[in-house]
Amino acid sequence: MLAKQSIASKHQYSRLRWRLLLSYLAVMLATFGISGLAIYGLFLKSLYHEMDERLGGLADGAAHNLVDVQKRSIDPTQIVTKTEPLPTIPIDSDGDLDISWQSMKLPRQRIEWFDEHRQFLTASGRNFDFVPLQPDLVSAHHPQFYSLTRTVFKNINGKKIVQGYVRVNESVEVLEAELSDLRWILGLGGLVGLGLTGLGGIWLTQQSLQPIQNNLDQLQQFTVDASHELRSPLTAVKISVDVLRSNTAGLLPADRHRLEVISKGIEQIRYLVEDLLLLTRMDGQLIAHEWRLIAVDEVLEDLLDLLASQAQEKQITLKSNLMSYINVNGDNTQLPRLFRNLLDNALKYTPDGGTITVTMQRAKGAVNVSIIDTGMGIAGANLPRVFDRFWRADVERTSGRSGLGLGLAIAQSIARSHQGEITVDSQLNQGSCFQVKLPLA
Ligand SMILES: Nc1ncnc2c1ncn2[C@@H]1O[C@H](COP(=O)(O)OP(=O)(O)OP(=O)(O)O)[C@@H](O)[C@H]1O
Ligand SMILES: [Mg+2]
Repeated sequence: MLAKQSIASKHQYSRLRWRLLLSYLAVMLATFGISGLAIYGLFLKSLYHEMDERLGGLADGAAHNLVDVQKRSIDPTQIVTKTEPLPTIPIDSDGDLDISWQSMKLPRQRIEWFDEHRQFLTASGRNFDFVPLQPDLVSAHHPQFYSLTRTVFKNINGKKIVQGYVRVNESVEVLEAELSDLRWILGLGGLVGLGLTGLGGIWLTQQSLQPIQNNLDQLQQFTVDASHELRSPLTAVKISVDVLRSNTAGLLPADRHRLEVISKGIEQIRYLVEDLLLLTRMDGQLIAHEWRLIAVDEVLEDLLDLLASQAQEKQITLKSNLMSYINVNGDNTQLPRLFRNLLDNALKYTPDGGTITVTMQRAKGAVNVSIIDTGMGIAGANLPRVFDRFWRADVERTSGRSGLGLGLAIAQSIARSHQGEITVDSQLNQGSCFQVKLPLA
């Protein structure tokens, strides 16, 4: 497990970095969004509260004239003389502060008087579309204006009786303008904030991942060094074992068997060391790119020839549909290895009597090579993991097919170092299709 995690590729590391940064930005975006909405909501509430207070005061002022309006149907502008502000602080008979509505009214407001049957009597101020007085509505928002209605009562024999209604309307232009300003401020502020947060996020992720990056570099260096150091002794042991195996005349059968086991073990370790070295080098882009023009069909043809006898042994039919004159730029040892790993898998995981088909297709500026088998397939849940280092399906571990789980990781690394990509499509017990996409030369 530890090995699996620590030999995470540079690709996975950069994915982790992006994931961290994006999660951070998502959290900040949500925080900004919620704060913005809260500020907007509070501001809206306070604007309406202010409006209610303003219109309430005006309605109270205008309520004093309801009797006059009702009795004489006076032109409300005429009432000015009657309730002109007094020189001293005007307290009227009901004991409240008596400021005339004329001195409070703003040009964007309108006052309407209604009788006790909700019949319109008269109005003063700005003209809005008339809306009938709605029962039980104290305040209401209309397209053009906001309105507040006060019920005016009179006292008859100690009984409170409705005398009429005063409705005060105010245009919502100013309110809308203020809200629009606020939306701009919040929007711009949010954008600037998000930009700064993004920069901060990049810096933060860099800082927090630096130790991991350092470890990764050290591990990479260690793997390269260790693999390098292991190569020569392993080669020496292998040569010695091969010499022993070539002359087993004086050995007991049991010793001969032991020799075979040692030889196989060494071969496996050699593969592992080579694979690790290759993967680590590709991570660091250390590969010496002696790239040249490579005809894809020739590479595939050679591999199919090479694997023909293995396929025959398992009675597997090899089919191919290749296209000539399709060239890619690449490393002429790595590219064959990529396809070799995929073909090896197809052979390994297809039961006797199956079919393997290799096809080539041209796509926009690229070539697609598909390796399709009728083998055991891969469960959907496992598909995202097949390119992970050391991952093998559990059935495999038990059903005795040898392997380290590095073949696909290496193939994917080679494809990526050639600006290509391998994708897989598979159905359990039906077969798999590995598709390699490489840019054309
Ligand atoms: N064509 C295929 N059909 C079914 N399963 C596959 C196929 N190719 C790969 N797999 C599954 O993906 C796993 C990983 O493949 P990979 O080539 O990386 O490793 P391996 O073949 O097990 O070992 P190695 O290639 O290192 O010898 C395999 O163990 C197998 O479970
Ligand atoms: Mg393999």
